[in-house]
Amino acid sequence: MTNPNPFSFQNKTVVVTGGASGIGFQIAKSFLEAGAKVSVWDYSPAALETAKSALATHGDRLQTLSVDVSQRDSVKKAAAELKNPVDILVNNAGITRDKSFAKMTEEDWDAVIAVNLTGLFNVTKGLFEHFSPTSSHKRIVNISSVVGLYGNFGQTNYAAAKAGVIGMTKTWGKELGRKGFTVNAIAPGFIRTPMTEAMPLEVLAQMAAKVPAQRLGETSDIANAVMFLSSEAASYVNASVLSVDGGLTL
Ligand SMILES: NC(=O)c1ccc[n+]([C@@H]2O[C@H](COP(=O)([O-])OP(=O)(O)OC[C@H]3O[C@@H](n4cnc5c(N)ncnc54)[C@H](O)[C@@H]3O)[C@@H](O)[C@H]2O)c1
Repeated sequence: MTNPNPFSFQNKTVVVTGGASGIGFQIAKSFLEAGAKVSVWDYSPAALETAKSALATHGDRLQTLSVDVSQRDSVKKAAAELKNPVDILVNNAGITRDKSFAKMTEEDWDAVIAVNLTGLFNVTKGLFEHFSPTSSHKRIVNISSVVGLYGNFGQTNYAAAKAGVIGMTKTWGKELGRKGFTVNAIAPGFIRTPMTEAMPLEVLAQMAAKVPAQRLGETSDIANAVMFLSSEAASYVNASVLSVDGGLTL
């Protein structure tokens, strides 16, 4: 029987990495509002506490776990604490360490690759056996970036990691389709979050001016795309990269 509401996530269990702030927080909130059980994984205990209070109305369906996605032991420990088999994984945790290539240090490179690229491998590997074995509605949504498609000044490490995320997405889309998964990536443009609010105001204004809509994106713009790709309605969308950038890259 066809589901009357393909955007209902009741009885679905979702893991959102980096879910305590910014885009990840909005994704977790949207899934909770749509009836899902959500496990928020983040390495910032302070941000987790703030998120827990902000999402208290959904507290009975919310779990918050302190996890560093770059550390395999940390991921395995968190996976063992899950209360239900997983239906949907959103690989969202990410960091930046921006510098021109000439100034970028080995530490800047290693830190960004460890979280933004190896972190996705660690989490997806660590959770693989925790997905519902019988479900044909298994979803992985990876948060890449417009920078992974086009590169960006000062972001050698970040652009390489985000391009790698697209390569992993396409490979998993091919390999896991027969196991009941769809695997897709989202390439956000410039979104207003703590990550971008750390940038100088004039840089943010220049960014907004490049977008046809003349505005930065909101976290809800990305959460809406994640919800679509995770829904029944997107069951034939696989191994794709959805740009959510207001047309920035035209
Ligand atoms: N903001 C943008 O304009 C933008 C654009 C394109 C892509 N993205 C991507 O979207 C995702 C979310 O970005 P955001 O802007 O919301 O950033 P943010 O800094 O606001 O939030 C990132 C969250 O990830 C958590 N995190 C960082 N490292 C972690 C680790 N090792 N283990 C667990 N949690 C960790 C942080 O504590 C934080 O809560 C990132 O992957 C980012 O690269 C953001």
